[in-house]
Amino acid sequence: MIKRIGSAVIGAVIIAAVSLFVLRSPIFYLIHPGQESMQYIGETEFPSYASTIAKKDGSLVIVSNPDSLLVLVNKDRRLPDFYTPPDLVIPNVRFSYNGDKEKMQMRKEAAKELEKLFQAADREGVYLFAVSAFRSYERQKALHTMYQKQEGEAVTAVSSAIPGTSEHQTGLAVDVSAQSSRFQLETSFGKTKEGKWLVEHAHEYGFIIRYPEDKTAVTGYMYEPWHIRYVGNPHADYLFKRRLTLEEAMPK
Ligand code: DAL
Ligand code: ZN
Repeated sequence: MIKRIGSAVIGAVIIAAVSLFVLRSPIFYLIHPGQESMQYIGETEFPSYASTIAKKDGSLVIVSNPDSLLVLVNKDRRLPDFYTPPDLVIPNVRFSYNGDKEKMQMRKEAAKELEKLFQAADREGVYLFAVSAFRSYERQKALHTMYQKQEGEAVTAVSSAIPGTSEHQTGLAVDVSAQSSRFQLETSFGKTKEGKWLVEHAHEYGFIIRYPEDKTAVTGYMYEPWHIRYVGNPHADYLFKRRLTLEEAMPK
């Protein structure tokens, strides 16, 4: 009798454990697709901080996935020395200037989606202008040094990435403006019709507003309503709906 009760208890424990495993497994969410379950089936998984470190370099780390559309570079994480993205092309969009082909470039997938983003904006009478996309290590260095001289250390620290740590060097970021902002990169762009449209629609094309106003403590940079970063979808959608930065979405 005791033996039988013992087996029943063990059986119940096994059934409970198996049920828990199945209910929490990707298989369950594949069978029961839904808005919230998306995050569990691996589609919107972000690579972790730890798994994307190649080596340490003083107070920074060097990322191991510079070609990934989900690469995270910030004040703690930099690209390998003199990194250049593999598939730079010039998107067929409106620019605020002629010439300077280098900074018009973006990674191929990001460029294609930027074209769709601009076309969608055009259809709604919202005229965006691309200002600055890819920047080489050398170009970022020259700009950063110029800002240090013009603006001082403190302002530069929260507005310009030190060379090797800029998203512009990944070919996945582009600064966008509009005629209403005199094609400048300034905070007031966020209050314009074009800036507001960008906030609402960038994620539909895989872009995020990378340095939001309420996340300066997380990103380390001041509000940049003009700087959009391609991460692709469903990741951009995921970040937009949950109001998360890349830093917050990545598992430690
Ligand atoms: N303005 C951004 C942070 C950059 O320099 O990449
Ligand atoms: Zn930028």
